[in-house]
Amino acid sequence: MTGVDLMGIYDIFDDRSASTISGAPLDRIAEKYGTPVIVYSHARIVANIRRIKEAYQGHAKILYSVKANDNPRILEIMHQESLGSDAASPMEISISVFSGISAADILYSPNNASAYDLEFALDRGITINFNSFTQYRKLREKPSRISFRINPGFGMGQFAGITTGGTTTKFGIDPDTAIMAYGKAKDDGCGEFGIHMMIGSNNRDHRKIAEAYSSFFRIAERISREAGVRFEFVDVGGGLGIPYSENEEDLDIASLGSSVVRDFSKYGFGELVMEPGRYIIGDAGVIIGTVNDIHNGFVGTDIGMNLNIRPALYGARHTIVPLGRHEAGERMTVTGQVCEDTDRIGEMEWRVREGDRILVLDSGSYVYSMSSRYNGRPRPAEVMIMEDGSDRLIRRREDFSDFLATVV
Ligand SMILES: Cc1ncc(COP(=O)(O)O)c(C=O)c1O
Repeated sequence: MTGVDLMGIYDIFDDRSASTISGAPLDRIAEKYGTPVIVYSHARIVANIRRIKEAYQGHAKILYSVKANDNPRILEIMHQESLGSDAASPMEISISVFSGISAADILYSPNNASAYDLEFALDRGITINFNSFTQYRKLREKPSRISFRINPGFGMGQFAGITTGGTTTKFGIDPDTAIMAYGKAKDDGCGEFGIHMMIGSNNRDHRKIAEAYSSFFRIAERISREAGVRFEFVDVGGGLGIPYSENEEDLDIASLGSSVVRDFSKYGFGELVMEPGRYIIGDAGVIIGTVNDIHNGFVGTDIGMNLNIRPALYGARHTIVPLGRHEAGERMTVTGQVCEDTDRIGEMEWRVREGDRILVLDSGSYVYSMSSRYNGRPRPAEVMIMEDGSDRLIRRREDFSDFLATVV
């Protein structure tokens, strides 16, 4: 390989050739399991978790956000690393419990939940983080421990579609309403309180993140004082970002952790909680695909919007490189097999031929979990590469029987 400067986003691989993970050759994995296939690095997942723990010096409880990637074998790693989970639905609660995570370590943050959804969590003793006061009011039996999701009045995310705070979003309760809500919950006999915010995803500027948390801590302090409740936990949500291209910088998590821990210690709150998803699993997964056609100036592959909807949905960009030989070529758009013009995965400046394998980097988060069977394409296999280079199939490729499984 010549003239290639692979840095940062290539950390999942053993070296800059981007051809092996923990010693396992990716062309062999593609041969064995077929393409498209999503390959994860166990070592990278664990390294990402430990980097967060180190940055927060053990002062934050980490709840892995299941929506980023809900494979139970991946959640088992979270459990082994003593993480809890952030669940968005009864199914994500079940996936968490199946993976070994105990009810006490799950926080359920639904929005527009049905009575069934809320009872599902309550029956299992799982704390609910209410997105609205109206949802709380609907409960016939009030729980003894609750949390409300606060909308601090501002949001912060890489794209509008992943910005989940601010007055134009459906998320959370404004601080004044929250004061009333906590007061009411206290009158209802609730004795343990948490407070939460989630203002957006894929943020990499540690100063801006720390400033947003600071504003939230001040809001939480005011709510606590005016409602007369003490917060056992203060949850800053997820949102820690990763670079998707070589010219984007890594989040300086060490600086973020030390400044947040220092700031948090000024208040009399209980535990600091965080809910990372992307930061843990995003750069620990890569899609391997195959070039099936080169036509009208497009590189036609088996990786489409059915598998990775992020480019079509948000205008997200993933770095795409050939597996193996790297020869500079013209800039071309990589497309998949779906009959939509939005079926574009990204751009590539490498020369490829029919039959070549390509890699879509940073595909560990919000790829499989957001995938569909659109155009009759089965979801792909998922493979975990262990530290010793062995490979484990952690989800098989779907087939026609999976399509028929729900047909009556
Ligand atoms: C409530 C909540 N917590 C955590 C997350 C995880 O976010 P991220 O993957 O950006 O860390 C999300 C993502 O949307 C979320 O909605």
